[in-house]
Amino acid sequence: MQLNNAFTFYAQAMPGLEPITWQEIQHTSPTARLLGFRRYRRQNGLVLFEYRDDPAGLLRLRTAEDVFYLTDHASTVTPDRAGLQSLSQRMVQSRFFDVGLQVHRQGRRGRQRGRTRFRVVSRMQGRGPAYRRAALRRAVEQGVLNRYNRKWRRVDDDADLEIWATLLEREFLCGIRLSDRTMRHRSYKQAHSPASLRPTVAAAMVWLSRPQPDDVFVDPMCGAGTILAERALMGPYKRIVGGDLDDNAVVTGRANVGPLADDIELRQWNAEALPLPNGSVDKAVVNLPFGQRHGSHRHNRSLYRRVFAEIRRVLRPAARLVALTGEQRLVEQILAAEPGLVLQKTWRLSLLGTPASIYVIDKRAAR
Ligand SMILES: C[S@@+](CC[C@H](N)C(=O)[O-])C[C@H]1O[C@@H](n2cnc3c(N)ncnc32)[C@H](O)[C@@H]1O
Repeated sequence: MQLNNAFTFYAQAMPGLEPITWQEIQHTSPTARLLGFRRYRRQNGLVLFEYRDDPAGLLRLRTAEDVFYLTDHASTVTPDRAGLQSLSQRMVQSRFFDVGLQVHRQGRRGRQRGRTRFRVVSRMQGRGPAYRRAALRRAVEQGVLNRYNRKWRRVDDDADLEIWATLLEREFLCGIRLSDRTMRHRSYKQAHSPASLRPTVAAAMVWLSRPQPDDVFVDPMCGAGTILAERALMGPYKRIVGGDLDDNAVVTGRANVGPLADDIELRQWNAEALPLPNGSVDKAVVNLPFGQRHGSHRHNRSLYRRVFAEIRRVLRPAARLVALTGEQRLVEQILAAEPGLVLQKTWRLSLLGTPASIYVIDKRAAR
C-alpha cells in the first residue's frame, strides 16, 4: 500500500507520547488526518499524517522532536541487495521529492547558494536485511546523486538539506527534515542542570495539564525550569510559580526562564511544605526525582508521600496534577492511599531507554 501523497508529513515524538503530538497537530490544523504511528527502536515515535495547511505551523509544534516531509514510502522492501538497489532507484523516481524540496525551501528562505550540500541519515530496525545501515545510506545517497546529477554535493557536516532514510523491518520511509536542532533543544535552554527534562516531554506534560488563560501554574521541583518555560510558551496564564530545594537549581532556572517571561516567579523552597495557601493552584506539573541521579528510592518513599499530600493541599478542588517519574510502584501505592487524588490516565514512555510514566491526576471535586 502506498501511504504518501503530496501532503504527507511525519513528526518524531518521544516513544510513548505519539498520541499527544498527534493531538497537538490536530490543534494546529483540524483537517489533518492521521495515517499511523510507528516506533523506531525505543528512541523515536513517528506520527504519520496528512497536512494541507501551511507547513510553517508544524515547525511551531512543541511536543515534537523533529518534523519531516515524507518523500517516499514503500510498505515492503525485500531484505536483499536487490531490495537495496530498488531503494536507490526509488530516489530517482520519487514523485514527491521536489515537493518536499519546495516545502523545505519555504521554511528557509534565501539561505542557500550554489550546489545543494546534502547529507543522508540512515536508520534500520529489525532482523532481516543482508546489508548494514551504511549500505542503506550509500544506496540512498547514490539515488539522490543520480537524480540531481552534478547539481548536488554529499557532505558529512553543515548540510543545507538532510534526508532521513528509515527501514522499519520491511517498511521504508524517506523524509526531508524540515526542522533543525532548535526544535528539540530550544534556544532558551542556556543553563543546564543534571536530570534536566527534555523540553518536548515538558511540553507534553504541560499539554496534558490543559492550559487555560486563568491558570495559576506551579512546578514544585522545577530544577532548570524547563516545565515553567514550556508553560509560558504554550499560551496565556494568570501566574506561573516554581521552586526547588537546591539554590543552584533556582539560579539555573532563573537564567533560563528570565529572558522568556519576566513575570515567572522562582523561589528556593521545600516542596514538602509549600509557601502557598490551600486550594490556590489550578495546575501542578512536576518531574519528580527518580532516585537515581537525585536522591534514592528509600528517600523517595517518604519524600513522595509528603510532596503528593502537599500538592493535594494547594490544588483547588477538581484541579490537575501531572507528574513524571520512574517510581511507578511508589506512585501507585500513594494514589491507592489518597482518596482525594483520582488517576485519570497513565502515559508510559521511554526516556533515553529509561522507562518512566506520566500520571495525569485530578483532585476530587468538592461536594
Ligand atoms: C528530576 S529534577 C527536576 C528537573 C527539572 N524538571 C528540569 O527540567 O530541570 C528534580 C528536582 O527536585 C529537586 N528537589 C528534590 N527534593 C526537593 C524538595 N524536597 N523540594 C523541592 N525540590 C526538591 C531537586 O533539586 C531537582 O532539581
